[in-house]
Amino acid sequence: MFVVTGASGRTGRAAAVHLLANGHPVRAVGRSAQRLTDLAERGAEVREADQTDAAALTEALRGASGVYAVIQPNYIPDHPDFGGFQDQVAAALTEAVAASGVPRVVGLSSWGAQHPEGTGPVKGLHRFEQRLSAVPGVDTLWLRAGYFMENLLDHADTARTRHRISAPFDPDLPLPFVTTRDIGIRAAEELATGNWRGTEILELQGERDVSMREVVAVIAKATSADDLVYEQTSTAAFHAELRRNGVSADVADMMAEVGEALNTRHTRMQQPRTARTATSTTIEQFVEEEFAPRYRESA
Ligand SMILES: NC(=O)c1ccc[n+]([C@@H]2O[C@H](COP(=O)([O-])OP(=O)(O)OC[C@H]3O[C@@H](n4cnc5c(N)ncnc54)[C@H](OP(=O)(O)O)[C@@H]3O)[C@@H](O)[C@H]2O)c1
Repeated sequence: MFVVTGASGRTGRAAAVHLLANGHPVRAVGRSAQRLTDLAERGAEVREADQTDAAALTEALRGASGVYAVIQPNYIPDHPDFGGFQDQVAAALTEAVAASGVPRVVGLSSWGAQHPEGTGPVKGLHRFEQRLSAVPGVDTLWLRAGYFMENLLDHADTARTRHRISAPFDPDLPLPFVTTRDIGIRAAEELATGNWRGTEILELQGERDVSMREVVAVIAKATSADDLVYEQTSTAAFHAELRRNGVSADVADMMAEVGEALNTRHTRMQQPRTARTATSTTIEQFVEEEFAPRYRESA
């Protein structure tokens, strides 16, 4: 039996669905059973546990052959200390892994997690890696995923209404765009096969690198928006916009740091793109199947 944390979330749900579809028993963990009903209908055992509750997580992990461990969500916009929240979750998951005796962990991390500083919310994932990897006798694989294609969905509304997509990234910066579904499927496959020992790092880099300029061209073609442009915003303007939208100073600082980290290549992939580090969904498929419908809905 495999435990999936974050099972109501994007990568977690995809991992749980893939494991169930391949005949593996799954215990799906989230804060609300109601948000896990569809997984229960597919045969999952559902367990309610807050991801900061070490005792509840320990019980949830007991008897499992492996666990998909994820700190979710990406960020909580109005949180005054999101790094502190990440540390609380990392501590609870680590305690649960140690106390339950689960032998195998696939953890979701991020590109850039090799650095302790200068990477925004990825700093918390660096600390998560360090903390959980120190548990003795557990085989832990860290999936250091690239930039989620789903981040683009936040731009669907302004793409339609203001004919622009704005972000702090250099327009020609190559970005390893990857889908959350591909990450979840890979997590499930790695959990089921367990072909590693000790602590290993596996970067998930997507099908190919794509710049924001290229992304906007793909979106313009799929939505027939010939006048769609990409606009690189300054870090200060990006930060001010987040604050105007009610994002806490702490989270705005973190998000601004992401832009700087990517543009300076402080955050970058370290492994070559191979059959193992690549994933299959192309930016064209994602835009056609997910971005374009969202863009049309925003009308
Ligand atoms: N965005 C990127 O480009 C990127 C790149 C690499 C790695 N990552 C990492 O990917 C991870 C996110 O994974 P994911 O996309 O699978 O997760 P996700 O879909 O964003 O997780 C959503 C889940 O988070 C829980 N949640 C929502 N609000 C919450 C709150 N205020 N407090 C506690 N839990 C809350 C909910 O679960 P319940 O209510 O059911 O508990 C919800 O189903 C993060 O660690 C992020 O750093 C992101």
